[in-house]
Amino acid sequence: MDKVVQEFTEKVSSSVYKGTFVKLVLGKRVLDNQELNKIVVRYVKLQEKPNLQFVYKYVRQDVTKNFSVEDGVRQLETIIGNNFLSVVLFTTKEDWELKYNNKHVPKIYKQKPSFTEAADGQHDQVKKRLIETKDNVYLKSLGITDQKGEVIPSMNAKFRQVEKFVEIIDSLAGSLKDIPLVKIADMGCGKGYLTFAVYDYLTNNLDMHVDMQGVETQDSLVKFCNNTAQKALFGGLKFCCSNINDFKAEKLDMLIALHACDTATDDAIYMGLKSEAKVIIVAPCCHRQIRNQMKITENNVLFPALKYGILLERQAELITDSLRALILTKHGYKTKVFEFVEYDNTSKNLIITAEKGEELPKEEQDKIQAQINAIKNKFGIKYHYLEKLIENPIDQSWRILNAQCYKAD
Ligand SMILES: C[S@@+](CC[C@H](N)C(=O)[O-])C[C@H]1O[C@@H](n2cnc3c(N)ncnc32)[C@H](O)[C@@H]1O
Repeated sequence: MDKVVQEFTEKVSSSVYKGTFVKLVLGKRVLDNQELNKIVVRYVKLQEKPNLQFVYKYVRQDVTKNFSVEDGVRQLETIIGNNFLSVVLFTTKEDWELKYNNKHVPKIYKQKPSFTEAADGQHDQVKKRLIETKDNVYLKSLGITDQKGEVIPSMNAKFRQVEKFVEIIDSLAGSLKDIPLVKIADMGCGKGYLTFAVYDYLTNNLDMHVDMQGVETQDSLVKFCNNTAQKALFGGLKFCCSNINDFKAEKLDMLIALHACDTATDDAIYMGLKSEAKVIIVAPCCHRQIRNQMKITENNVLFPALKYGILLERQAELITDSLRALILTKHGYKTKVFEFVEYDNTSKNLIITAEKGEELPKEEQDKIQAQINAIKNKFGIKYHYLEKLIENPIDQSWRILNAQCYKAD
């Protein structure tokens, strides 16, 4: 896919999950015999699930089709540039327009927002949460809700991250629906906020049969979570006290990790690759491993910028996650990177989603490896921890056993 189109569709996903999406309009139809003039895409909630509603505006009639967010985005990726040469994404923060020039080269333009109110997708319904908070045993046990079943204000940010993560899983769950028992692991699960919510949503809302494990090094948290799972009667959910790398998973269908510290995110991705998970979703945490390695010499054009500590830190984050996304792509995963919550919820607001596809031809893999090498060379990076895990499957005596966060969330 064209990288400008990908950048644009990532803005669409991001605005939907962040709640800033207003609508999207595809115009400038490529001339053919069809009588379709334009497509308007809106956000609607159907049976509490986020959907993208495509209204196809033909000369004589409108045709409406609803898609999950991910399917809708896939739909856009096939239409943009092939059937329509202009697309405008209206969000409450800004308007984004993607236009093709005469040589069929796409470019994105940013404008001030035309609208200030986001689409909430539920015109005539009382707003209901994706995760029901009333009488919810595990949310109360985890300290997210109070006696009345309301989210405790100090837990709002974490609960929003979890809800958004679940929304993203929902839109990627299509490939898991026909699996009789879906195997899932949540790596570096901590107190299990995400683990419980995902298990609850998949089993109780999507009626899936799930065998789920939360993996965590802190024994006290593991004990607490196993007790809570029993109280909530979640029979298919277990927590185990283990380092991610030692976790024995023959096969996983989905691997998730929310803010697994530093290289623990790489351990998680590696486990997903090793077990050939169909879906890998990680929201990375801190990024020390690459930052500690970066050597910016005075002849690097970015030297004057990266002598400032905070800019070096941001650059390290960017490079770490870019390399993760490239490594996943090289392994045949259809990979996306976008913001899943606002920056003021958490500065760690990037999410990497990867869906297993076909193995790439060798030349394609080599091309991606050359891109990875070029990035590493530019910043004096000897190795990316994830690459090293993949390259040394037998001897991993060098690996970091307990990654720690160096910044509070
Ligand atoms: C920042 S917390 C996030 C917890 C949880 N996912 C959440 O979002 O609430 C990271 C957790 O990862 C755990 N952790 C770090 N390295 C790990 C490893 N290699 N294996 C298993 N757990 C790890 C830590 O003990 C900690 O509980």
